[in-house]
Amino acid sequence: MCGIVGIVSNKSVSASIIRALKKLEYRGYDSAGISTITNGEINEQKCSGRVDNLEKILFQNPSSGDLGIGHVRWATHGIPNQVNAHPHSSEVVSVVHNGIIENSDKLRKEYEQKGYSFKSQTDTEVITAMLTDFLKKEDLINCIHKTLEKLEGSFALGVIFKNFNNLVVGARRGSPLAVGFGHDENFIGSDSYALKSMTNKISYLDDGDFCILYKEKVEFYNSDKKKINKEIFELSSEDNIADKGDYKDFMSKEINEQSTTTKKCINEYLDKSRNEINIFNLPINPKKIKKIRLIACGTAYHSCLMAKYWIEEFTSIDVESDIASEFRYRKVKLDPSDLYIFVSQSGETADTYAALKKCKENKIKTCGIVNVVESSIARLSDFVLPIHAGPEIGVASTKAFIGQMIVLYLLTLKISKERGDINLDEYAKLVLDLRKIPSLIEETLSKQKDIQVIARDFINAKGTMYLGRGYSYPIAMEGALKLKELSYIHAEGYAAGEMKHGPLALIEDGIPVVVLAPKDRFFEKTISNMQEVIARGGKVLMITDDTSETMSENIRFKFQIPKTNSTINSFLLTIPLQFLAYHVALLKNCDIDKPRNLAKSVTVE
Ligand code: F6R
Repeated sequence: MCGIVGIVSNKSVSASIIRALKKLEYRGYDSAGISTITNGEINEQKCSGRVDNLEKILFQNPSSGDLGIGHVRWATHGIPNQVNAHPHSSEVVSVVHNGIIENSDKLRKEYEQKGYSFKSQTDTEVITAMLTDFLKKEDLINCIHKTLEKLEGSFALGVIFKNFNNLVVGARRGSPLAVGFGHDENFIGSDSYALKSMTNKISYLDDGDFCILYKEKVEFYNSDKKKINKEIFELSSEDNIADKGDYKDFMSKEINEQSTTTKKCINEYLDKSRNEINIFNLPINPKKIKKIRLIACGTAYHSCLMAKYWIEEFTSIDVESDIASEFRYRKVKLDPSDLYIFVSQSGETADTYAALKKCKENKIKTCGIVNVVESSIARLSDFVLPIHAGPEIGVASTKAFIGQMIVLYLLTLKISKERGDINLDEYAKLVLDLRKIPSLIEETLSKQKDIQVIARDFINAKGTMYLGRGYSYPIAMEGALKLKELSYIHAEGYAAGEMKHGPLALIEDGIPVVVLAPKDRFFEKTISNMQEVIARGGKVLMITDDTSETMSENIRFKFQIPKTNSTINSFLLTIPLQFLAYHVALLKNCDIDKPRNLAKSVTVE
């Protein structure tokens, strides 16, 4: 969370910093700030709220200077106000920070005793004090190195100095930092997307690295202060496509492009002429895998829950799904014959990254399923399967979820085939069915208007439940997460069979309940659970591929998804739930792309 940017150029940088900060707003949007060196002095300007507010301030009080740093904040230490907004500056140094300094209390006391005073409640301001202090006795490299050595926790930093007015410093431990190379200007940014309008040549700092940007060159150093070289990647033009087009917001664009993104993903992995899945050289021979562990957070975790059902269905491998923030601290028996799969849209989620690191440190073979292929998780994994969804900007994950499920499904089928767990005819049929997913998604997307109508039932609800069994259960959980994060209505995803063990007590007259009831082997049982809800006054939105008229009189609304094989109808059940969350939020006037208190890339624990 939080986004940082830094630029050193041969021209004024404030407009470019603002442009980059707008691209980084998905990482945090409760305050914003900028520092430049103007007439030999540090010129810091910051405000609470969005980058638009900062832009207005700069319009009235322009900030010149050909080097500078900028920040968008997602508050961790201290409320989101102007004082706590970054940058944090002294007379001689100005700092922006993404991450958490875990020993900040101790450092604050130490530097208070040395005579430094602090204006903000942030953990970041200790870095300003430390750099200011080291600068009194050290050269620049030692000043940076000694400061970084004393910091505990995770960070990406951008720093400018009054007395080194030709450079910007970047540093990384735990939080991502990209470096961009331009003509007579160079950049740092929390991701390459922020830098894309300025350059397509990108490098990445690894943990412990720091860099010094000059306008004509970039120097990289490792944690031992040794100069190092970095590989430079060229972003493809496709990596750069990230605008709303004709859509009102990124989320509706991202929902509506899911037939295209799934098609792209499937095409990347399928050899159509042989009807074969092109996934080779897994880090463990599929025949030797004893267990699969899937690890992720939030929506990505729901894709793992889904995959658990598929892996159990199609292979003889034992499987577990884990929430990364729990897994990383548990005393899990790490076995080298188990395959560990880490799923993350951003590839930067701190807990997922830490869980992956724990496996790597124990010589466990890992596979990363990511959207951002140059991300930290992709770079650390032994084997990477991209989801090819293109940039996802809306904070609520939609097309990445579908993409994660596609890749996990492909991987399941491939492992199953390699192990001989599935017969070849069934495999061929499932692969053929898989190729129909994009057009089935397209058909489901065309029914958005139906959901718009029912969304009104939810806007005044004090809570709601999403119910499903089998493959539909993880989708119910994901649907509930989408509604709560976008519309701030309490929602729970429940296994329909669990209702009578407690949650049924929540059902009262008028409560909206979403029931996922595809015509699979659980259909009759789900219908019974739905009846129990209706009998207690629940207003049911049923989502099904069943075309019969039975039950219709008792159901408030029935949303019809196209018929398909029951192992893949999860893809289709997901679409109306995304629309539902979207339209409820729209009716409640919520900020669709930037829900309150959240951020897209969760780079703190
Ligand atoms: C919810 C959502 C989050 C993310 C979670 C993991 O809509 O987007 O729950 O899924 O923060 O993020 P990634 O996939 O980037 O690791």
